[in-house]
Amino acid sequence: MRIRHDVDLQPYNTFALSAYAATLVDIHHPADLTILHQQSNWSTTPRWILSGGSNLILTQDWSGYVLKIANLGKKLIYEDDQFGYWQVAAGENWHEWVQFSLAAGYSGLENLSLIPGTVGAAPVQNIGAYGVELADTFVECEATDLATGKTALLTRLMCRLGYRDSIFKQVTDQQWVITQVTFRLNKQPQLNIRYGELKTWADAMLQIGQSLTPLMVSEQVCAIRRKKLPDPQQLPNAGSFFKNPIITQAQLEALKIQWPDIIYYPIKAGKSVKLAAGWLLERLGWKGYRQGPVGFHEQQSLVMVNYGGARGSDVLALAQQVQAHVLQEVGIALEIEPKIID
Ligand code: EPU
Repeated sequence: MRIRHDVDLQPYNTFALSAYAATLVDIHHPADLTILHQQSNWSTTPRWILSGGSNLILTQDWSGYVLKIANLGKKLIYEDDQFGYWQVAAGENWHEWVQFSLAAGYSGLENLSLIPGTVGAAPVQNIGAYGVELADTFVECEATDLATGKTALLTRLMCRLGYRDSIFKQVTDQQWVITQVTFRLNKQPQLNIRYGELKTWADAMLQIGQSLTPLMVSEQVCAIRRKKLPDPQQLPNAGSFFKNPIITQAQLEALKIQWPDIIYYPIKAGKSVKLAAGWLLERLGWKGYRQGPVGFHEQQSLVMVNYGGARGSDVLALAQQVQAHVLQEVGIALEIEPKIID
């Protein structure tokens, strides 16, 4: 474990917002959490968990602990003819792990290529892209409850994974820190190429007689993401800024009267649909809109970006304007997707 005081967190969040942490602790081993739990001021000091910092909006300095999960390691713990079960430390970089798994001959994570962040953060919001989500390969995770210092294995069912959601977002009386994640990966590839842009590419490849591999799907996903999503190194951002709202079929029918070409995806056996919030924002004129140091990306209006020197207050002010506008025009309350630290 490494402990530092009065640290600017700007290099540790992809939105590049500056905010000072009174104490930043690098957790190199799950046992570090048990040691911290024994500190006399532990129960009275506020704390939050920092992973890759790619889904985070910092709005002010933090007087307590920030715990940066930095443990490393990946091992194949079991395999049969069909599957390999991999246990991966929470501090591992997500995209590097995806590339490692593909190179080792295991598939299932290819559609989740190039998502920023760490392995430990993946179950928190059940990361998802191009028709696949973490839940599809997730077996269980090991986590420590900061309130009690106890470590437990949380099964898939216990984690209550949903669209951009999990127990780690829902339960507030416990404070779980994920330290390891176990995945079940395929040894015989089962490609998922149904999602819009991926399907167009796959159909074209198959038409010319080209057979597809998980590595090719991964490369294509990377190409799509590079084209549409700003690189945080060049234009700081936290990925999608709002969740895609889930509404009922009846609500959709009402919206279609005003917006006949509205983009949506059916879910839950036809009872609900997920709207493309990016499409709504574009229609309402927010694509490429800039307000001082913040704005919505030119290619993807769901992504708010920092043009330089933004503060958390700039981010929240613009977010509130958009939320009010969407509520007024469409009757939908957009939910902010990244975690807000306030
Ligand atoms: N669209 C527009 N205008 C825009 C943005 C999108 O018309 O400015 C349309 C697109 O043309 C498309 C639809 O809306 O028909 C959906 O857009 P896209 O495929 O870009 O995906 P998204 O719904 O905006 C979600 C995830 C992304 C993930 C992509 C691909 C959420 C909140 N976001 O975005 O995840 O990469 O699907 O699967 O669910 C993230 O969470 O940070 C993230 C980037």
